[in-house]
Amino acid sequence: MSNMINMQSIVDAVLSEWPEHEIYISKSLSGYTEEERAHVERLSERICALAGDRLPDFAASYKWLCGVFNEEQIAFIRTGKYRRTSFAEANAEVYANKDFMQKYMEGLLVSQLLWSNHARAFLFHDAFIDSLKEGTRYLEVGPGHGLYLATAALNPRCAVVEAWDVSAESLEQTAASTRRMGISRPVRLAQRDVAEVGRRAEDGEPFDVVVISEVLEHLEDPLRVLKNLRTFLVPGGRIFVHFPINSPAPDHIYLLTSLDEVRAMVEEAGFRVETAEEYPTTGYTLKRAMATKATVSCLVIGVNP
Ligand SMILES: C[S@@+](CC[C@H](N)C(=O)[O-])C[C@H]1O[C@@H](n2cnc3c(N)ncnc32)[C@H](O)[C@@H]1O
Repeated sequence: MSNMINMQSIVDAVLSEWPEHEIYISKSLSGYTEEERAHVERLSERICALAGDRLPDFAASYKWLCGVFNEEQIAFIRTGKYRRTSFAEANAEVYANKDFMQKYMEGLLVSQLLWSNHARAFLFHDAFIDSLKEGTRYLEVGPGHGLYLATAALNPRCAVVEAWDVSAESLEQTAASTRRMGISRPVRLAQRDVAEVGRRAEDGEPFDVVVISEVLEHLEDPLRVLKNLRTFLVPGGRIFVHFPINSPAPDHIYLLTSLDEVRAMVEEAGFRVETAEEYPTTGYTLKRAMATKATVSCLVIGVNP
């Protein structure tokens, strides 16, 4: 890892907080191909830039987040269900809870490197951004820590960059992320519940791309939201969906259990599926993850016909 200084900084910060995590980390980071490693270092560089001199705090938040997720995992194994079922519960306990949300998004940022399914989802998003045409109008729903949004805003092909999030804390973190990445052009951030959003005259021109990563499983009716988001896209526009299956978390309420179900939902919302990928959680093959109901990140790109 000699030429991977940013990755090493993140690993060092986490291990100094949590030495027992070493086996998991080496399992996660040893599986990348040579080509993936260069991208992973670019990802690490961004995470370091976003965390800045608070990297040790972000590492502590990551350890805390893993504890919270483990509790959810134990309940999921016992019941086969997510613990919460309504947006109101998740909103009160998570999105509107500033302290919880701050640690959650900080920890989730570190997981973008250390959980191999998250790292591969980021690389998939990076390749997607690189494939966009000049002048793209980009909307992201639920940017959270702001890593994906900052990546889009850094890319000159994205002419317009806008994001909506229901959580004030997420929007603060996203705004801070764009500042830390040195993005000076305007990025429009709005506090909006995507389940309540209908297209209005003042919404202006439709978008070429909508990115919704790790948000649909937080919603009571993700199909309705996908149908609604289609009305914000130009004909031929694309939706980037990242939907984790079998993925218990404090704010996950909608359970899907296969890539086929994710794909079917995107199709039922009226999109033609262009690409679909699945990345199992660290240390699992896809077969083993499906057999044991371990988390798999499902990535689907749909085209608005
Ligand atoms: C798990 S984070 C995902 C962050 C990032 N997109 C990623 O993939 O790592 C979920 C984000 O979605 C936001 N969110 C949840 N429900 C939402 C809703 N109904 N409308 C808008 N944003 C929502 C949360 O506040 C949070 O910022």
